[in-house]
Order: sequence, then structure tokens, then C-alpha cells
Amino acid sequence: MADWYTNFANSGFGTTITKQLGLPRPVELRRYEPGQPLLPGPVVVGSAGAGRLRDTVTAVLRDAGVTVQSPVTADGATGGEKLGAVILDASGLTTPADLASAHDFLAPAIKRLRASGRVLVLADPPADATTPAQAAARQAVDGLVRSIGKELLDGSTANAVFVPEGAEASLAAPLRFFLSGRSAYVDGQLLTVSPADVPANLDEDEPLAGAVAVVTGAARGIGAAIAEVMARDGAHVVAVDVPAAGDALARVADEIGGTALQLDITAADAPQRLVEHLRERHGGVDVVVHNAGITRDKLLVNMDAARWNTVMAVNLQAQLDITQALLDADGVLRDGARVVCVSSQSGIAGNRGQTNYAASKAGVIGMVRAWAPEFAARGATINAVAPGFIVTEMTAKMPFGTREIGSRINSLQQGGLPVDVAETIAWLSQPASAGVNGQTVRVCGQSMLGA
Ligand SMILES: NC(=O)c1ccc[n+]([C@@H]2O[C@H](COP(=O)([O-])OP(=O)(O)OC[C@H]3O[C@@H](n4cnc5c(N)ncnc54)[C@H](O)[C@@H]3O)[C@@H](O)[C@H]2O)c1
Repeated sequence: MADWYTNFANSGFGTTITKQLGLPRPVELRRYEPGQPLLPGPVVVGSAGAGRLRDTVTAVLRDAGVTVQSPVTADGATGGEKLGAVILDASGLTTPADLASAHDFLAPAIKRLRASGRVLVLADPPADATTPAQAAARQAVDGLVRSIGKELLDGSTANAVFVPEGAEASLAAPLRFFLSGRSAYVDGQLLTVSPADVPANLDEDEPLAGAVAVVTGAARGIGAAIAEVMARDGAHVVAVDVPAAGDALARVADEIGGTALQLDITAADAPQRLVEHLRERHGGVDVVVHNAGITRDKLLVNMDAARWNTVMAVNLQAQLDITQALLDADGVLRDGARVVCVSSQSGIAGNRGQTNYAASKAGVIGMVRAWAPEFAARGATINAVAPGFIVTEMTAKMPFGTREIGSRINSLQQGGLPVDVAETIAWLSQPASAGVNGQTVRVCGQSMLGA
């Protein structure tokens, strides 16, 4: 399902009109389906620098059955088949001069990228550099990748993963995610992994098999999509929403064979009730997704205390209180647990009329960063996902013009779907994502806002 304009722009008549008028030409994105190959075409892998990550990349591609082709030669000789992905291992950069080989590799390779292709650059974190020249070379990757993202056409994306020394094993899960259709609407992102004990994904089709996953705000919208994707990936989902949404919540839970739990997450006894439910009914929890969120928009100067307080209570305080209660309840949050918190692009860019909402969503980003070390000590992780413009009931209420502009000002020229946020959250929830901790991943099609 794409938005109406994407459907129009890809119809026979719409293609002609949009071409003639120079209008945005969004394409339908390659989205994940179980059993589908990781990539729809071969990959070329190049390096700029020492290339420390080559073995990890090769192993992931081999396990996924992806064909690896030799890089295109500098004189432009190319193979025939269009590429599914272009991967640059830029680990070991020491000076900006090393980046010349990045250019030499990327330029001809990207010319051969097919629609919904992937460009992925792997590098060392700039913060760990030991000389200014090395830091400059590593930081240059940031501008390079974001610019490639803006130049790519036809639903292709560009992302980067920074991999510190010793964290090589943590690269596999992000690599698979960024190459796959799960990351359809994740573009222009720079993820930093950390060293961790990374278990293999034993079952690629059901990476959450046997897990118990709580999803708040699951009665509709993004939360319902998260519940569906988690169940598809093998989890038993405890779907939580307010009693007023009880009927819709029951429908979602029934459809996925999950459990419905009516709970206002801001109630004083909500953390304890959730803990007890998980202990008694499920013996613990593996994945917690703090998705429930509300908006109460007004300019700050006109905002009453109630609007401020309710938004803070649902979007931020409930996430803090429930997470703390789970950490405190002996044995309920299982070792290796995954907590994923829904933030927002507004929490990064700010938004007129949303001081309360943006403050709450920025708070979520600070919260996961601060909690990450404590989670790592238990073999667990806590991360945030910041959606950009996602086509839901929330955004359907916007005036037509605002909605149209909001959904076009990103590199993919379209709004994301709830499933795009859900796939990113489900990936962060996998056991294999142990090396992704304290991060905020935007699901925004490389929105121009806040980037
Ligand atoms: N739609 C977007 O474009 C967008 C963009 C950025 C971030 N987000 C965030 O994604 C999340 C989901 O958004 P959505 O668009 O699906 O919203 P939505 O309004 O469609 O759904 C939110 C759900 O949360 C539930 N909820 C609200 N208060 C609750 C409470 N106190 N206790 C339990 N459940 C409660 C609601 O009943 C509803 O079912 C929110 O955190 C939102 O801020 C959405």
C-alpha cells in the first residue's frame, strides 16, 4: 500500500504528468516479505583504508546467498546486471586523502544501482580517532553518506554504520537490516554499534520466536503494525492500550494470537499492574515497546498546563516509570531483553505548536542514551526510533497542504507506512541486535527536518 500520490505518479497518466511538470516522482519502496531474498541483485564491496570489516561483510553476504561481484574498474568497465547494493568498507581511514579511493569506487558502482538499491558505508567512529586528520576523514563519511542519500533516485537509500575496534561482530545485524526491505524508509542514518556478546539469529524468518513482547498503544496505527510484525517474527505479543480502545485492542490481539491488556499507562498503579501481568501470565518479558503517544498541540504561549502535563505523562514519564519498574522487578525483564522507545522527528527538529510533544520526544532520546550502559551490563539494550512523516490517523487529521508538504520533503519523496516503523523496531528487538544500544534510529526517508 503506497500513498495516493505515489500511486498516481506511478500510473501511466501520472508518470507523464509528473515528468512534464517536474513534480516529485516517488516510487513504491521495496518492503520486506518473509522468505524474500535479502537483496534483489548482486553486491559490490570496495574499501578505502585498511578494510578491517571485510570478513564480517563477506560472511553476512555469503550466509544470505547474495552474489558478490568485483568492483567496477576505474575506466568504467561494468558487469551487465544492475546492483542490489554497494558496500564501502571505509574502516581504517587515516587521512582525508584516503577518501579519494572511496570516490573512485562509489561513483561507477552507484551508477549501476537498481531501484530500491542500498548504499552502505562502514567506518570507524569519529569520536575514537587519535589525530585531527583521522577524525576529519572519519567525520567526512557523515557528509558523504547524507549527500549520497539525497542524490539517489528510485527508492534507493544510503546509510552508514560506525564500528569501533572490537565491535566487529555487532555489525552483522545492522548490515542485514540496512540491506533488506525492512529498512525501506530508513535513509541517511548513521548508526554506531558497540561491542557485545552477539548471538546468531537462529531463525531468520522468525527471529523473535519464543519471545514475549509488550507493545503499548497497540490498538491502532503504528502500535498495531508493531504488534503484527512482532507476531509475524514469532513473538507472543501482549497488546496494551487504554480501556476506551478495548474493542480495537481485542481485535488486534485476536488477529495475531496475542493477549490484550487494557491499561492506561499513566495510571499510578500501571507499572505494577504490568509487572504482575507479565510475571503471572508469561513468566517474564523479552521485548518492551513504548509506543503509546499523544499530541495536544498549541503554541507555547497559549498552552495550558493540562496540555503540557498529559503529553509529558504519556510520552515520557510512563516510559521512565514502566522501564524502572521492570528493571526493579526481580527476573521479570529477562537477560538479553530489548526495550524500544518511540520518539519522533519533532524531538530532533522541534516543531511549531508542539513544544510539549517535542520536549517529551527529545526526552526519550536522552533517556535511552543514559540507560544504555545499565542495560548493556545485563546483556540487554534500550534504543529509540524516531519516525518522520508516517501515514496514520494522526497525520490524516492534518490539513491537506500541510500533509502533502510534510510527506514530500524527504529524499524518498513520500510518507512512510506504519510497517516501516514496525520493521525497524522489530529489528532492534532481535537477539542479534545486541550491539545496537542507546541509539536513536530515524525512520523518516531522510527528512529535511532536523537533519
Ligand atoms: N504518525 C506519525 O507520523 C508519527 C510520527 C512520529 C512519531 N509518532 C509516534 O508514534 C507513536 C504511535 O503513533 P500513531 O500515529 O500510531 O498514534 P495513534 O494516535 O494512532 O495511536 C496511539 C495509541 O496509543 C494509545 N494511547 C494513548 N494514550 C495512552 C495511555 N495513556 N495508555 C495506553 N495507551 C495509550 C491510543 O489509545 C492509541 O491507540 C506515538 O508515540 C507517536 O508520538 C508518530
